Amino acid sequence: MASLLTIPLELLIAVSSFLSTPDLGALRLTCKQVEKSLYEWFSKEFFTKKQFMLTEESLRVFIDISKHVSFSKKLTHVIIATNVYDDLPVHLRDSDAAARWVTGRRDQKTLLSTGVDLEMLTEAFQNLENIQTVGIRDFNNHKRIRDGPSASWSSWGATTVHNETGNRLGFSRDQNIFVPRLFQILLRAVGKAKQAPPEVEVLLRHGFLNDTAFHLPNFLQPTVKAVLQNLKKLILTNAVSVESVAVYINGSSEVRCAGYFLRQFLGHTPNLTHLRFNLPRHEVSENTNFLQWLSKPAVSQGTLPTASLEPAPVTLAYLTSLELGQFHTKPDTILDVVAKFSTTLQELSLWKLSLSESDVSPLTHSPLYPKSNLWIKVFAKLAGMQQLQLNHLKVGQLQQDGLHVNFKAAGRDDAPLETVRDYTRPKMDSFLKELIDETVVKWPEHVSSDEDMEDDGEDGEEVDEDDDDDENDEE
Ligand SMILES: *[C@@H]1O[C@H](CO)[C@@H](O)[C@H](O)[C@H]1NC(C)=O
Ligand SMILES: *[C@@H]1O[C@H](CO)[C@@H](O)[C@H](O)[C@H]1NC(C)=O
Ligand SMILES: *[C@@H]1O[C@H](CO)[C@@H](O)[C@H](O)[C@H]1NC(C)=O
Ligand SMILES: *[C@@H]1O[C@H](CO)[C@@H](O)[C@H](O)[C@H]1NC(C)=O
Repeated sequence: MASLLTIPLELLIAVSSFLSTPDLGALRLTCKQVEKSLYEWFSKEFFTKKQFMLTEESLRVFIDISKHVSFSKKLTHVIIATNVYDDLPVHLRDSDAAARWVTGRRDQKTLLSTGVDLEMLTEAFQNLENIQTVGIRDFNNHKRIRDGPSASWSSWGATTVHNETGNRLGFSRDQNIFVPRLFQILLRAVGKAKQAPPEVEVLLRHGFLNDTAFHLPNFLQPTVKAVLQNLKKLILTNAVSVESVAVYINGSSEVRCAGYFLRQFLGHTPNLTHLRFNLPRHEVSENTNFLQWLSKPAVSQGTLPTASLEPAPVTLAYLTSLELGQFHTKPDTILDVVAKFSTTLQELSLWKLSLSESDVSPLTHSPLYPKSNLWIKVFAKLAGMQQLQLNHLKVGQLQQDGLHVNFKAAGRDDAPLETVRDYTRPKMDSFLKELIDETVVKWPEHVSSDEDMEDDGEDGEEVDEDDDDDENDEE
């Protein structure tokens, strides 16, 4: 009769994949041969992608893994989550738990204030031969199935804190200091470690990335520049705040520059092929100001003053994939951005975007009806862009003037309304024509009905699109 030791490896792996993590550990301990057979698969599943946090215990494990002969080679994706000990008075089960919580909380603050987190990150990154992606997150992935539907994939060390104190670590909501600092020290650690992973991913569900995170003062540039030069993929989800620097010069006209530091940052990433960002939903004029800058043609070096409140437009000559999400702007602004990159662009995603012709947020004015369908105009203009040769187009959950925009098969009154359209080659030839025929605005039955004006994604927290990225998460 076949036994675990004689069945083919594929079967052994298939059987093992039904085990919970502790049971899998037990199986690996039962015998050397099983351990040896499962080793490749196990190290791949458990050590390809790891999530750590800024505590000594977590970063210590990161360093240990990075020094392990084999695991260090498997580790290609490192996430630092924004876990923090809550500052609020917490209820703890006993004095032992209380002492651990109070000490842990203070340890973390001191780890950050002394910069030891940066040193530890640097040490770990130095040893990783195959690092591809570094990222930041403020949530746990719930898609992991091995340990049951409710088990989540948390940062290394977070479960221990929970076990020892009975309390769970939260995620920092401090967008002004904690999160920008994490972004900056992460890039600095990677740079100091002489690494240049091609992908950086910031996935925030509970907040946005403050523009100050992108500030690269002269003293950071020597270490960070090489990282950014080699960067191919920059994913910024949820919103990036592109708040304005607004000044009056010589007492006269106001100069506004939305996303000042992000503009400078993009000037350091010439090799980007894939860019995704979302902007804060209702900052209409700032988003438009930033996007108008992004769509400007690059000018040759030296024709602009070096210290300008308007950073030089960027080329991004290799950009093939652009994903824009969440924000509200005018039709021409989006068209100008696409037009600028049209010679290289192959993939375009327009997700949860909202259009209106006016500068004012749709929620503060009451548009007159009937109006024209702005998305049809956008699709028609995209179809007319000679240079634009897309392989993939995804549009979904669009809006116009605060009203939902849907897709409905043409010529069929009873066709269902759909919210998403996703086209890839070879269907691409007719796709824009199809979109023009099928895009419908859900006009209100009577003007300014509150229900129709309601914006269901308002706080931007229930973004679901970035879940695509989590499908392959493994502990
Ligand atoms: C904490 O971990 C210990 C040892 O690993 C275990 O025996 C105990 O049940 C855990 N406690 C909780 C509350 O999870
Ligand atoms: C970004 O952070 C700075 C402080 O570093 C703060 O003054 C500013 O208000 C923050 N921006 C937003 C949009 O909260
Ligand atoms: C990145 O761009 C620079 C020029 O801006 C170029 O010299 C370098 O070779 C590029 N690196 C990669 C990896 O493409
Ligand atoms: C500042 O404004 C005043 C009055 O408009 C003008 O005379 C002066 O030349 C300006 N100075 C500079 C440096 O532009």
